[in-house]
Amino acid sequence: MARRHKIALIGAGNIGGELAAMAARHELGDVVLFDIPEKESLAKGKALDLEQMGSVLPYDAHITGTANWDDCAGADVVIVTAGVPRKPGMSRDDLLGINLKIIRNVADQVRSKCPNAFVIVISNPLDAMVYEMKKVTQFPRERVVGMAGVLDAARFQLFLARELGASVKDVRAMVLGGHGDTMVPVTSYCTCNGIPVRQLIAADKLNAIVERTRQGGGEIVKLMGTSAYYAPAAAAITMAEAYLHDDKRLLPAAAYLDGEYGFSDLYMGVPVIIGGKGVERIVTIELSAEERANLEKSAAAVKELLDASKKL
Ligand code: APR
Repeated sequence: MARRHKIALIGAGNIGGELAAMAARHELGDVVLFDIPEKESLAKGKALDLEQMGSVLPYDAHITGTANWDDCAGADVVIVTAGVPRKPGMSRDDLLGINLKIIRNVADQVRSKCPNAFVIVISNPLDAMVYEMKKVTQFPRERVVGMAGVLDAARFQLFLARELGASVKDVRAMVLGGHGDTMVPVTSYCTCNGIPVRQLIAADKLNAIVERTRQGGGEIVKLMGTSAYYAPAAAAITMAEAYLHDDKRLLPAAAYLDGEYGFSDLYMGVPVIIGGKGVERIVTIELSAEERANLEKSAAAVKELLDASKKL
């Protein structure tokens, strides 16, 4: 008999709330919004508000707010936003010390309470957080993935679409590498309904768009005083849905590399297939010499971040 899926959202803040709303609206299953005891009533309040929205729209999802890990037990999907978001002037790396402690605690609980879950990490600095999640849970790499590429590619696609005066629905783009200023928007694979954007946008304009994409997170932090939440939530829900529905979507995501692209023992953004088995495949693509060099630079930045976190 089919059963309802359970989605545990660790962190009931800005992204957590949006994740809950989207998971419910997409009827992915029942939702547990977990936060620390000081935020338990916020989690409960958001859950109740969202359940009430369900009777308007309508959708049928049980949404629970809690600070008790037992309520997350047996979740099919765990999405982690626990941590402190970036404040203006703070780099993702500044967050490392604070969020590392939080992720270790969360990973410990995930390992014992949700041993079969597909885990999507959003907390920043992403590449270090998702690495730590895998290390502590000891889950196979198929079941621990980081959300960055779908968001970075979404930003890239939007800027390209606006420049082209074309629908964002027709623009597809790929962003590889670490989720930071060294990310690698791969222009050679960006198309507007199959037409390479390089044929449609002048090189200087394209470079400016690449730069804006790299700074895409910071641009929003400057405007709002905190990090983005609508698009990040949508990106993670796309990944969760691909897993729960065995969609076999080809998406850029932070995956654990074990020799792919010549890198080992690190998480970095690469194209992957997400389906019912989780990260079913890491897809290797050809890169130009410049893209390859940029990817090496990005990997070096991720390594540096990992080295820093190993000392903490
Ligand atoms: N367990 C569960 N939740 C926790 C824990 C913990 N140990 N520690 C902190 N949290 C909660 C906070 O109480 C807060 O409600 O995580 C939530 C984070 O929510 P916000 O502060 O609103 O941050 P948000 O915008 O959702 O971003 C979360 O995602 O994109 C990244 O940089 C961003 O690391 C940040 C994360």
